[in-house]
Amino acid sequence: MIQGKWYAPGEDLAEVLPVRRAVFGRGEDPLDAESWNVLVWEDEVPAASGRIWWRDGAYRLGDLCVLPDRRGRKLGDLVLRLLLFKAQSHAAREVRLACSPDCCGFFARLGFLPESVSGQETEMLLEGDRIELDSCKNCRKDNCPNRKN
Ligand SMILES: CC(C)(COP(=O)(O)OP(=O)(O)OC[C@H]1O[C@@H](n2cnc3c(N)ncnc32)[C@H](O)[C@@H]1OP(=O)(O)O)[C@@H](O)C(=O)NCCC(=O)NCCS
Repeated sequence: MIQGKWYAPGEDLAEVLPVRRAVFGRGEDPLDAESWNVLVWEDEVPAASGRIWWRDGAYRLGDLCVLPDRRGRKLGDLVLRLLLFKAQSHAAREVRLACSPDCCGFFARLGFLPESVSGQETEMLLEGDRIELDSCKNCRKDNCPNRKN
């Protein structure tokens, strides 16, 4: 079973940090005091996480990660959608993130566009009114029971 949980700014992140630490080698930092963190469990194992915060007129996403042995099962996609849902429910005008070139494609799937490159990081932007969380839209499966025509 897949479950998700939000942690408000300042809440205890003891359940979230092992995932972040396992992937990025980093624990809690001052940004957590102003971030919403989200954690996704797979079969009661904390498996994926990410966070969102407000900065300079935009919502920023960061530290989105999935434990290596849990990748390729759409958990990263779920965390990204949860973060975008949070941004959308706060009427975000812009959602931004910085990622390595090999992750741009992952974010581009949900509409992020590269804006600039600085060293090894690409700044990506998604306008708030272009957030699209309907996973059926643009799906090409013609035998899906969800398809109306
Ligand atoms: C990037 C990451 C979060 C993806 O998580 P994941 O659970 O393996 O990805 P998903 O299974 O949800 O993939 C969903 C889709 O994105 C695609 N995808 C996954 N990683 C991708 C990448 N690096 N580039 C392009 N597409 C990617 C998948 O092929 C899949 O496509 P499909 O819907 O057509 O089948 C994970 O590999 C990770 O934790 N990487 C290390 C941390 C990191 O770099 N984080 C991002 C920067 S903050």
